[in-house]
Amino acid sequence: MSKTALITGASSGIGAVYAQRLAARGYDLVLVARRAERLADLATQLQQAHKVSVRTIAADLSADAGMASIETVLRDEEINLLVNNAGMGPISSTADLSDEAAAQTLALNVTALMRLTRAALPAMRARKSGAIVNVGSVMAFHAMPATSLYSATKAFVLTYSRAIQQEVQADGIQVQAVLPAGTVTEFYEAAGVPIANFDQSVFMTAENLVDAALAGLDRGEEVTLPSVHDLELWNTYDTARQNLFGGTQNGKPAPRYKAA
Ligand SMILES: NC(=O)c1ccc[n+]([C@@H]2O[C@H](COP(=O)([O-])OP(=O)(O)OC[C@H]3O[C@@H](n4cnc5c(N)ncnc54)[C@H](OP(=O)(O)O)[C@@H]3O)[C@@H](O)[C@H]2O)c1
Repeated sequence: MSKTALITGASSGIGAVYAQRLAARGYDLVLVARRAERLADLATQLQQAHKVSVRTIAADLSADAGMASIETVLRDEEINLLVNNAGMGPISSTADLSDEAAAQTLALNVTALMRLTRAALPAMRARKSGAIVNVGSVMAFHAMPATSLYSATKAFVLTYSRAIQQEVQADGIQVQAVLPAGTVTEFYEAAGVPIANFDQSVFMTAENLVDAALAGLDRGEEVTLPSVHDLELWNTYDTARQNLFGGTQNGKPAPRYKAA
């Protein structure tokens, strides 16, 4: 029986490439984003090219109604793979970011990803199978001016994914955090700073990014960093993180905080 993948943010960029690659692997698809026409065009193309079934749902995942409509699909239908990809990252100083953009970013990058993950998990646990791909960013471990909220939301994606990985170990469910670095998509236009303003040498194509991410998924990787060539960088970082946590578990203030 064919498997079904639900991909958020499938109308452009990384999400659209996930749709292409998963259709080529024989997945039926449920494609979600706000731009219905883009989704419909992609669906037609993929149905013709790969003979899979493709459904589109136009939904604003930063709004309660949009999130709820996709939660219903995840709860009521057999979705084998959820790709939580939709995201935004307005580039602005913290003080200058509009309240609306701040709320939308938090709702889309954090609340929607959290709600859709929670909606998908019970059915996957009951079936003892399923996979969730959470698209984060290397900004999860890098704080810099003008991306404070974005970096923090992506730190959420990484930490949330890592904790759930431990919860579902025995349930046959795979949770992968994918952390792209710069990727050529419409993201930067949407962020308010066209991609031409950045050093082009750090950018990867969305095709290369998704192919690497899927190779990581096939290998059962928990965290996939497509642009990191030296994996020891990540291993060292992650070991240091665990050692640091160990160093916090002693119940006594450190001597350096003793009153003089
Ligand atoms: N490009 C990069 O350099 C880069 C680097 C690291 C991580 N990422 C992450 O990769 C993911 C995909 O981004 P991308 O680079 O492919 O950018 P993109 O081309 O701008 O795609 C973003 C997708 O999210 C959808 N989306 C945005 N707001 C939405 C909303 N309110 N409700 C539903 N869907 C919404 C967009 O569709 P509609 O506008 O049609 O709704 C679009 O399909 C994001 O999570 C991003 O943070 C990107």
